[in-house]
Amino acid sequence: MPDVTLTTLQGLKQKGEKIVMLTCYDATFAKTACDAGVEMLLIGDSLGMVLQGQDSTLPVTVADMAYHTASVKRGNRGAMIVADLPFMANATTEQTLNNSALLMQAGAHMIKLEGTAWLAESIRLLADRGIPVCAHMGLTPQAVNLFGGYKVQGREEAQAQQMLEDAKSLEAAGAAMLLLECVPSELAARITRAVQIPVIGIGAGSDTDGQVLVLHDMLGLSLSGRVPKFVKNFMREHGDIPAAIAGYVKAVKAVEFPAAEHGFSA
Ligand code: KIV
Repeated sequence: MPDVTLTTLQGLKQKGEKIVMLTCYDATFAKTACDAGVEMLLIGDSLGMVLQGQDSTLPVTVADMAYHTASVKRGNRGAMIVADLPFMANATTEQTLNNSALLMQAGAHMIKLEGTAWLAESIRLLADRGIPVCAHMGLTPQAVNLFGGYKVQGREEAQAQQMLEDAKSLEAAGAAMLLLECVPSELAARITRAVQIPVIGIGAGSDTDGQVLVLHDMLGLSLSGRVPKFVKNFMREHGDIPAAIAGYVKAVKAVEFPAAEHGFSA
């Protein structure tokens, strides 16, 4: 059981205090992030790109996720651990249950699934069996081939309205948290106000209940050299890794990050 629980997160949303999440893939960084005040550690399938050097998240397996989740668990000091179900690991109901169970047994406290309203059945199934779910909406990198690239989602009003309805239906299905990636800041704010559960954003403006960044991005490390607009390099300002992570925590809590320049308009 983590020190940070769903009750903690609900309390932070109600108080209007921002929630800080960071991706993490090993024990040493888990401890470093916890010492810096990070409340949620995400073992993202971004590990395919930042650790393995793949050109997308699609090659990541459940075994990869379980290995890194178990590593993070060993270094964790009270954060809530969220693990991604990788590409196609929730293609069927049976796979969803079995693969989520593997990641929970490896040390996750919550499972993150990418998708839209079609996730409702899986979310209900997992929640009924005691597994909290974070629904990842907007730019879902596992669908990059469908989107035709890493593009901002929800810019047109019809799509924005659909995303708002989907968010409400996933909350009704039992989602414990939403994560919005690369959506216009104004839409993210509307969704955050429309649901009771915490909403974490990345490239979604400053009005969500919390923020997440990919660890390597915020440390200024990049294989491709392409840095998304929503990223801030905290190493440049703070000089060493523990200070950079502490600087990120402080900036999110003070609502100084993300700034307007890190967000997208409709
Ligand atoms: O895989 C990941 O790291 C993620 C974040 C970008 C939110 O899903």
